[in-house]
Amino acid sequence: MSETEAPRDGSRRPLVAANWKMHKTTGEAERFIAALLGRGVPNGIDAVVCPPYTALVATIESAGGSPLGICAQNVHEEESGAFTGEVSIPMLADVGATGSIVGHSERRRLYNETDEALARKVPALLAAEMLAILCCGETESERDAGETEAVLRRQLEADLAGVADGDLGRVVIAYEPIWAIGTGRTATPQQAQEACAFIRGLIADRSAGAAVAIRIVYGGSVKPANAAELFALADVDGGLVGGASLDPGDFGQICRAAG
Ligand code: PGA
Repeated sequence: MSETEAPRDGSRRPLVAANWKMHKTTGEAERFIAALLGRGVPNGIDAVVCPPYTALVATIESAGGSPLGICAQNVHEEESGAFTGEVSIPMLADVGATGSIVGHSERRRLYNETDEALARKVPALLAAEMLAILCCGETESERDAGETEAVLRRQLEADLAGVADGDLGRVVIAYEPIWAIGTGRTATPQQAQEACAFIRGLIADRSAGAAVAIRIVYGGSVKPANAAELFALADVDGGLVGGASLDPGDFGQICRAAG
């Protein structure tokens, strides 16, 4: 059996997250949730929707009573303070959000989100019993230069430095090769599996138990047509979905591919 044919460890519950980025008003969010729930979300997976802050409350209210988790796309690590434009973990908890994406490549590149900040954000989310979806991934030039593993190692060693070994299994890591985000160029199953297996190995260096438990999802042009193949990979426990998550039919299909 080749590496890309080995079965997934069924003890890890698949997670599929919709990263809406800067899309959807409150009304659009409400209509999306109604349509998604109308079609049904499969049991046995964690389905998560990450709207912009302004649509968080409307999305949470629309999803009320359903198994959907609603997370933010970014969060500040301090509880409060003079941080204009930022939102804290207690503020997310106050409206019923269940976690946040952190370290998305767009935030790293466009808004200078640093590994130092991520090293504070991830443990702060875990301390609040919230879902931390930590993104990592290489640029195209880094991949071409053979630096993918070095980049992943550097990012994850730094970003997870503040997480105790025993808590690592609670983090969700999203492997998102930057060259595959929004480009329609999905990583091949072999590329996705190799990178996610490498990430699991990095976690195993700190805790064998956490490496078995931790969920590692793939992101970068996940679509209904390629989701099932990606989610069947041994070390891929679901997906972080951008463009295709804006349509409830497409996102529902991608959720079913993980179910
Ligand atoms: P994409 O975005 O699915 O549109 O490539 C993924 C992401 O940025 O999380």
